[in-house]
Amino acid sequence: MQLINNNPALVTMRGFFYVIILNTYTMEMKLTMNRNISLYEAIGGAETLRRIVESFYPKVQAHELLGPLFPENIIPVMEKQIMFLTQFFGGPTLFSDEYGHPMMRARHMPFPITPKHAEAWLDCMKRALQEASGLDEELQAYIIERLSGPANHFVNTPE
Ligand code: HEM
Repeated sequence: MQLINNNPALVTMRGFFYVIILNTYTMEMKLTMNRNISLYEAIGGAETLRRIVESFYPKVQAHELLGPLFPENIIPVMEKQIMFLTQFFGGPTLFSDEYGHPMMRARHMPFPITPKHAEAWLDCMKRALQEASGLDEELQAYIIERLSGPANHFVNTPE
């Protein structure tokens, strides 16, 4: 420690390191402080989620790579997505109550999903969050981070 304290460059580097760690944990801390608020609650619950999903699917349908994978009548897909994201973000278990275990990767297996599809899906979601969520940028970025895991996990086909 003495070695670090005597070297201004190392002290600065240690400062940067602390800032990175702090930023990473700040969002989790904000959500869990006091009353263990879920991400679902933090975004404003059902109303916000519906706005996001209703902005998301027209973008998916218009996307040259994603659009052809989806049925013309997108309403049932939207309703399922609202139910799934409700529980994925820590709200009531609407999807499982209606359809059983999510097994989301398995449900995506009939469709060839490449890394480019995952990237496009996340980009549509990013734009939907910007346009329709009314959430601050930090929370939007956190949602995308939370969805990146599943999106990449559903990739089942190489480029
Ligand atoms: C990685 C890119 C993705 C692609 C290309 C994709 C594509 C699809 C397609 C084609 C369907 C079926 C639509 C139908 O005919 O009913 C579907 C269903 C669904 N997707 Fe995705 N998806 C992706 C990522 C995700 C992610 C990240 C989530 C949630 C975290 C998600 C949640 C769902 C849900 C809840 C359904 C309805 C499942 C059901 O029918 O029971 N998808 N997706």
